[in-house]
Amino acid sequence: MAEDDVKNQELMDKIVSLCKRRGFVFPSSEIYGGFNGFWDYGPYGSRMKRAIENLWWHEMVETRDNVEGLDSTVICHPTVWKASGHIDQFSDLMTDCKKCKARHRVDQMPDPNVCPNCGSTELTEPREFNLMMKTFVGPVFDDEHVAYLRAETCQPIFVDFHSVRIATRQKVPFGIAQIGKAFRNEINPRNFTFRSREFTQMEMEFFCDGEEGMEWFEYWKEQRINYYRNKLKFSDDFFRIYEHEKLAHYAKAAIDIEVKFPFGWGELEGVHHRGQWDLSQHSKFSGEDLAYFDHDNNRKFMPTVIETSVGLDRTMLALLGRAYKEEKAATQKEGMDEDVRILLQLPPLVAPIQVAVLPQSKKLKENAYGLYKTMERYFRAEYDETGSIGKRYRRQDEIGTPFCVTFDFDSLNDNAVTVRDRDTMAQERVGITQLRDYLEEKINA
Ligand code: GAP
Repeated sequence: MAEDDVKNQELMDKIVSLCKRRGFVFPSSEIYGGFNGFWDYGPYGSRMKRAIENLWWHEMVETRDNVEGLDSTVICHPTVWKASGHIDQFSDLMTDCKKCKARHRVDQMPDPNVCPNCGSTELTEPREFNLMMKTFVGPVFDDEHVAYLRAETCQPIFVDFHSVRIATRQKVPFGIAQIGKAFRNEINPRNFTFRSREFTQMEMEFFCDGEEGMEWFEYWKEQRINYYRNKLKFSDDFFRIYEHEKLAHYAKAAIDIEVKFPFGWGELEGVHHRGQWDLSQHSKFSGEDLAYFDHDNNRKFMPTVIETSVGLDRTMLALLGRAYKEEKAATQKEGMDEDVRILLQLPPLVAPIQVAVLPQSKKLKENAYGLYKTMERYFRAEYDETGSIGKRYRRQDEIGTPFCVTFDFDSLNDNAVTVRDRDTMAQERVGITQLRDYLEEKINA
């Protein structure tokens, strides 16, 4: 293994271990040995996931007059997936190693003639494998009752285009956004949550006149890059843009936003110009004309679609990978075992806990708990009174809490608390009446 690969693997192992230890993410059905490609988000993981969802929703829907929200079903009419091309074409080539029995996706093998697991050249002929997850709807389990779990959240958006437009009186150009689960029977789930079989997508489909398609494509590309820079604080060396050279026959342009995951570069989001393909296909298969009549210009046309599509699980993995830090503790004394401070330098906007309130002593519980209950109204907050104050700080560092607020004996007299910054460990005395404003400013900075 190359040196970089070893380092990446070590970092990945540390993140997986922290996620399990601190209740961010752990294998689904773990007491039954886990279930490959499925992950559960624990108390801190689900808080962080929700924070990312809320941030995306706020940026993409709530603060825009021209984007509407949708929450569609996971199972749709099976013809939806015929129209989208998923039933006939959503497949990967796979091969099995006859020696070690490992199964591989051909496009992911460094050498398609050699098993990456054991080096054997005895491989089965590559064969197509459809990624749609099947189920049955109704009491009879036969071909007529087959249905599919959605493989992407965008298809119901296209199907509901008319209903949303009419209900909201939106005129083209406008967009529809959805956050929800998607399911793919991935041949080889890997890299922790990066490639899972059940995952969450955050997608927005923007409907416009084809003549303005490229302008809108550039607009959304810029919006999404700004989001990563300004909201998730991605620095220029942490993400890059990959321009697709090979495009689908109906597409005009496509880019991926790639980030440095703990295992190396990988796709986080796609911004795609999908042409008129989606609405045309659903018009054809449903018999419902999804073209738009522009009353202002007395013109009818099939809208062009610009899509922004990002995985929530991948966003979280990218954030955790970037946030993980180990520091030799400043308090290190000669002769002591090496003391390492582990911290997650998460942006305060998406940290699972933004403010931890800690009494210096259990004797101060009543006051500190009261303060925590107040802070809880404005921030994702936690109260902790167990163990030494040093240990409590360390615990908060590991879950990425940017601010710890300590209520001490002096607080009873000066009505102020000590606020400790996770990254610098600097401590500042802040009056309790100013605390909310102080934290709000720091968290939204
Ligand atoms: N509607 C377009 C679409 O679904 P995609 O590139 O297949 O495009 C979009 O998926 C995003 O969904 C990806 O950039 C990635 O973040 C996420 N994603 C896709 N497959 C995934 C998987 N198996 N596990 C986790 N996230 C996945």
